[in-house]
Amino acid sequence: MGDRWYQEAVVYCLDIDTFADSNADGVGDIPGLISRLDYLARLGVTCLWLHPIHPSPNKDDGYDVTDFYNVDPRFGTLGDFAELLHQASNRGIRVIIDLVVNHTSDQHPWFVSARSSPDSPYRDWYVWADHEPTDRHQGMVFPGEQHETWTYDRTAKAWFYHRFYKYQPDLNFHNPEVRAEIKKIISFWLQLGVAGFRMDAVPFIIELTEPGHPESPKDFDYLTELRQHVQWRRGDAVLLAEANVEPDELPQFFGDNAGSGNRLHMLFDFMLNGRLMLALARQDPEPVIEALRDTPKLPEGGQWATFLRNHDEIDLSRLTAEQREQVYAQFGPEEHMRIYERGIRRRFAPMLDNDRRRIELAYSLQFSLRGTPVLRYGEEIGMGENLDLHGREAIRTPMQWSYQPNAGFSAAEAEKLVRPVIESGEYGYPTVNVTAQRKDRNSLLSWFERMIRTLREAPEIGSGSTTHIDVPMPAGVLAHRADGATGTMVFLHNLGTEDAVVDLGLLADEAELPIDVLTDRSYRELGKMDAVQINGYGYRWIRLRRGPLG
Ligand code: GLC
Repeated sequence: MGDRWYQEAVVYCLDIDTFADSNADGVGDIPGLISRLDYLARLGVTCLWLHPIHPSPNKDDGYDVTDFYNVDPRFGTLGDFAELLHQASNRGIRVIIDLVVNHTSDQHPWFVSARSSPDSPYRDWYVWADHEPTDRHQGMVFPGEQHETWTYDRTAKAWFYHRFYKYQPDLNFHNPEVRAEIKKIISFWLQLGVAGFRMDAVPFIIELTEPGHPESPKDFDYLTELRQHVQWRRGDAVLLAEANVEPDELPQFFGDNAGSGNRLHMLFDFMLNGRLMLALARQDPEPVIEALRDTPKLPEGGQWATFLRNHDEIDLSRLTAEQREQVYAQFGPEEHMRIYERGIRRRFAPMLDNDRRRIELAYSLQFSLRGTPVLRYGEEIGMGENLDLHGREAIRTPMQWSYQPNAGFSAAEAEKLVRPVIESGEYGYPTVNVTAQRKDRNSLLSWFERMIRTLREAPEIGSGSTTHIDVPMPAGVLAHRADGATGTMVFLHNLGTEDAVVDLGLLADEAELPIDVLTDRSYRELGKMDAVQINGYGYRWIRLRRGPLG
């Protein structure tokens, strides 16, 4: 086992309001989540990431907070939250929460006060301009739905800055009081017992915004400061950040052990995500090989968090226009499947036409590549989307637990549900639900359980090094390896449809007694490794040898 838990974790993210409703009011809640912890423990996840849990008017699914020191009363109380931490910990599961401090809701008492008068003690907690800024129509995060980043406020008689929707005014990071308050928020939740934070919108947090300067300077040292604070308050807490930036900027977010000090422990690997989608669309591993090659070297303790789908759109903005079209053609062919002029608002299973072989192949690839895998609720049973819902809500429908009404999510009347469940069709709850898949050894859920257990027996995948095995390969096939103190694993993935035979004879000397530990079907024994079979859409996880700690 490595020294750092997050490098060998399996993260599962969920929204409390769509997971499990214990009191039949139509909204998922903390007691509901507690009642499902055994399910999550059985699945094998070791860390929960909860989307925003704070009180919120919910215009952006909780990413618009009105009180950072409480939980949304719809979810329960702080007492319930403390109980959740205890119950999760009893099952060996850590909990991290979303920390959304780039902005607040415009209904947060700070903003209400700030706009009310130039003399408000909170006035300077936000970013104001007296005159219309020249960059008013630049830098929108939600093109198509958002038209400006500076909005005039009649009460304040001034313009305020908002990187996201206009009901999400940005906090002013020039202001030392804001910085101190954020440390206090972090301390509060660490003291309660969370294992860390998923930090929202980090590139914008460190931006020192000035009106008329769309390219404001970035204060990376602030991340060093936050890291030091977090680590002093709780030694093993992590910062997992959303920083969807150009690859050459990424190292600055991690920091390094020498000059700039340690900053964030983990970053979501958006670059790999786009390349994975491209590789799957083309049935060609080249984009993944490129991503492995182009990955900046991480400082000690730095880690990627890998994902296929998250709660937002699939962001294809870092692909070329031609590459983006290839992904759209395969996975988002219709206009209403796309969003923000750059992405796809669909769940993973429907994008792959519910082809079980390709679904397994894709997750096998994600989980075997370097980094810590993050799974989103419902992926483990192959849930679908509801494109009739607005924007990203399409992929935020309630968890499908059983054949019972409302998918067993809630005993409320259907009209009261926070969002409708998917009722019918290929992805409707009568077909796709946990109860059905639990009983079935061949279900996707049972496959995920096996895969996650296998991953946890091979910690070199998370905390070792990952390398592309660069030998001549049949079209469509990727070979890579993970090396660590526990030994070596070799992986084959065939993104194409043709069965193939791969020559891995160069590994024969290293192989003690190579065995398959996870495959898409049973294969002939490995022998000298010079003629390793791999089916179309097949995958093989091969344990090559055990190391001193294996
Ligand atoms: C992040 C979240 C997204 C949210 C936005 C504003 O990008 O992932 O869901 O809308 O921040 O907080």
